[in-house]
Amino acid sequence: MSMNPLLEVLLDRQSVKFVQAPGPDAVQLDLILQAAMRAPDHGAVRPWRFKLIPRQHVPMLVDLAIQAGQAAGKPMPDFKITKWRAWLARVPLVIAIACRPDPSGRIREQESLLSVGTAVMNMLNAAHALGLAGFWSTGMGTYLDGVAEALGFDALDERFMGYLALGTPIEQPGPVIRPDYREFVTEWQPSPEFSA
Ligand SMILES: Cc1cc2nc3c(=O)[nH]c(=O)nc-3n(C[C@H](O)[C@H](O)[C@H](O)COP(=O)(O)O)c2cc1C
Repeated sequence: MSMNPLLEVLLDRQSVKFVQAPGPDAVQLDLILQAAMRAPDHGAVRPWRFKLIPRQHVPMLVDLAIQAGQAAGKPMPDFKITKWRAWLARVPLVIAIACRPDPSGRIREQESLLSVGTAVMNMLNAAHALGLAGFWSTGMGTYLDGVAEALGFDALDERFMGYLALGTPIEQPGPVIRPDYREFVTEWQPSPEFSA
């Protein structure tokens, strides 16, 4: 039986950290962001916030992290700085991700965070369908004070959720072994008091 092409994309995707130019062109980026808008969204909160960081500014993300680490009294170790610089030197596009939960509180914050997570999943899958790849990282000072604000997010009303690097894999990734879903799936059996 031939595989459904959409399922083929879903079952074949894997994260690729080390990407290079070309990143998504304008048409591809438009499709990737449209895919994000297909995320399930309880109460139509529209919690997704994306900040595009073009190639020439990408290396500055390391400087933001260094600065935030210093301000927090937790200077970044040199090995981390070197690792980040080497990674980002070739990344053609980073999308900083944030969530703006329902200001009324009617929809629980965790639902908005999940909605952003599903949006990013759609972006990763869309990138893969387009022959590109991505990697979601909450490194580089994501959780340090000041980074979200420096990226233009609202520290009070928005939750910074890290960086999505997008581009062309530098090396085609090898196959990864995925878990057997049966380890995580059970069938519910109602206890007798609920039985008809
Ligand atoms: C919210 C989130 C944050 C992540 N942050 C990091 C990170 O900071 N560093 C890292 O090595 N992997 C991180 N990952 C994992 C990678 O993005 C990736 O999912 C992992 O390497 C497995 O690859 P796969 O998507 O092909 O299963 C994160 C994943 C998620 C969902």
